[in-house]
Amino acid sequence: PTKIIFDTDPGIDDAMALLFIEASPALDLIAVTTIFGNADIETTTRNALYLKDRFGLTAPVYKGTDKPLTRPRNPSPTFVHGVNGLGDVELTGLVPAQPEAKPAHQAIIDLARQYPGEVVLCAVGPLTNLALALQADPEVATLLKSVVIMGGAFGVAGKPGNVTPVAEANIWNDPEAADQVFTAPWNLTAVSLDVTTQVVMSPDYMDALAAGGSDACGFLNAISKPYAAFYGERDGVVGCCVHDAAAVAYVIDPSLFTVRRGSVRVVTEGIALGQTCQKAEGELFGPSAWDDQPIQAATVAVDGARLLTLYAQTM
Ligand code: BDR
Ligand code: CA
Repeated sequence: PTKIIFDTDPGIDDAMALLFIEASPALDLIAVTTIFGNADIETTTRNALYLKDRFGLTAPVYKGTDKPLTRPRNPSPTFVHGVNGLGDVELTGLVPAQPEAKPAHQAIIDLARQYPGEVVLCAVGPLTNLALALQADPEVATLLKSVVIMGGAFGVAGKPGNVTPVAEANIWNDPEAADQVFTAPWNLTAVSLDVTTQVVMSPDYMDALAAGGSDACGFLNAISKPYAAFYGERDGVVGCCVHDAAAVAYVIDPSLFTVRRGSVRVVTEGIALGQTCQKAEGELFGPSAWDDQPIQAATVAVDGARLLTLYAQTM
């Protein structure tokens, strides 16, 4: 199985993705690193520790940074993931637990050095821990097997933005970090809103998962209800958009997706703050900030039915 570090801000869809990794025979979860985003860092770390304890995960949990690289943290939207970050479903059997002493970005560096060329870093929150890892040890970019993020909105398909008309939440929450991550020389794929808004877990789909009887699926079904209600009210979607679990699906089976290759920059000021823009390989323009930057992949299409089948079969 592929060694995977999961950088996450749980988060309802983060929990769906984390338990998907744990259930997948193709993946070996070697660490969970936490980040602020859907809630503050204390809450997202508590949630990661809760999921580890309740569902018997063996991977250690490392706490990440509590704020973006250079700007104050945006308030977390409690109307999306609830005050407790998990849809305000009661966290039964919650016991106090502490993360490992090492900070998240150092854990990423150390694991990349321990298993050179073997580790996939899957990041589904703001990209601050990844930027801190690059700053502390730039070689980390060549030591990881690949990086797969859920983030960005390229305006190719699906929804162009979800926090502003052009910005996706994970990028908007730390645009400077995201620009550093996109312009680092690693093998990176962004699984963006273009595809994640096209894959929806309907209430019937979630109920069917839960009917299988596992505690994990019962819990995911419960936390999915407020999330589905949010999307229904805002976007008229019946069910939950599959954001973070789509990034995990990419790690398991990239053939589910079509990607476009090119250099990616992030808007770090002005009204388009947090917008991700890709210059496709081979496109001709005048000199620009996209020149001489690493070529990264951005998803432009997905086989949603096959992704939903993979998730259900794995769970
Ligand atoms: C992303 O933002 C968070 O709210 C979700 O967990 C997901 O990672 C979607 O824009
Ligand atoms: Ca997330």
